[in-house]
Amino acid sequence: MDAWVKFTNQSQGRDRIFRATQYACALSIYLLRKKTSERKDLVANLKSLEATMSAGRKLFRLGNTLNSIEAAKRTMQLSDRVLCLCLTVANINRALYFICDNVLWARSVGLIRDIDKEHWSLSASRCYFFSLVMNLSRDVYEIIQLMVQKARDEHFRQKMGQHLSENPEVADVVVPQLDAFLFLLLESLKSHPAVALDTLKNTCDLFIPLDRLGIYKSNAGVVGFCGLISSLIGIVTLAQPKLKIKP
Ligand SMILES: *[C@@H]1O[C@H](CO)[C@@H](O)[C@H](O)[C@H]1NC(C)=O
Repeated sequence: MDAWVKFTNQSQGRDRIFRATQYACALSIYLLRKKTSERKDLVANLKSLEATMSAGRKLFRLGNTLNSIEAAKRTMQLSDRVLCLCLTVANINRALYFICDNVLWARSVGLIRDIDKEHWSLSASRCYFFSLVMNLSRDVYEIIQLMVQKARDEHFRQKMGQHLSENPEVADVVVPQLDAFLFLLLESLKSHPAVALDTLKNTCDLFIPLDRLGIYKSNAGVVGFCGLISSLIGIVTLAQPKLKIKP
């Protein structure tokens, strides 16, 4: 079991590169959509590459259900109640998402037949969506904590006073509290890039199920772009573990 979890963790790098390629293809196909005549071959190639990446990722994701359950067991032990709740619910939904994903994979290779593809695909998106919403709640919780910490910091208060007095026109025109709030928010994110990156990643990811579930219809270009950005952040955090949010 441990060896299996370790192995699938190692394959995360490959999954992220496949994912980045998949969304880069989706974005390119969207950008090339108008110039059909001469770019037809290119678009066809990109489509087949996108499909290959997507299928390849599905095969390697077979072990991820176990990983997510293991992660849920770990986050259940967290002493911080809010973190414990957000991350455990996120991980359980992620496990459910992978179960749906595995069922869809089994259908696509012909292992099972009598299932409603659309139904399972929608369920997968719903679980993914809830997992992201819980992840984002956790990000918001972390950001609020950081801001409270910063606001109490004497050294930071002086800096903020200076910022507000140096930019009086901003403070006068816009509500001064808003200016102070934004300054505090940006400074907090700047000093904790891991939290900033995780928030950006989860926000980008959110567009994918929002579009799929019809809650917020964007287009293939937005989905491709957001998917690409989030995959690139995923690669960066894998290469630079200190930029990955913990736990
Ligand atoms: C939610 O966050 C956890 C921990 O950072 C991560 O492992 C998981 O992939 C995230 N869920 C989604 C759906 O991105």
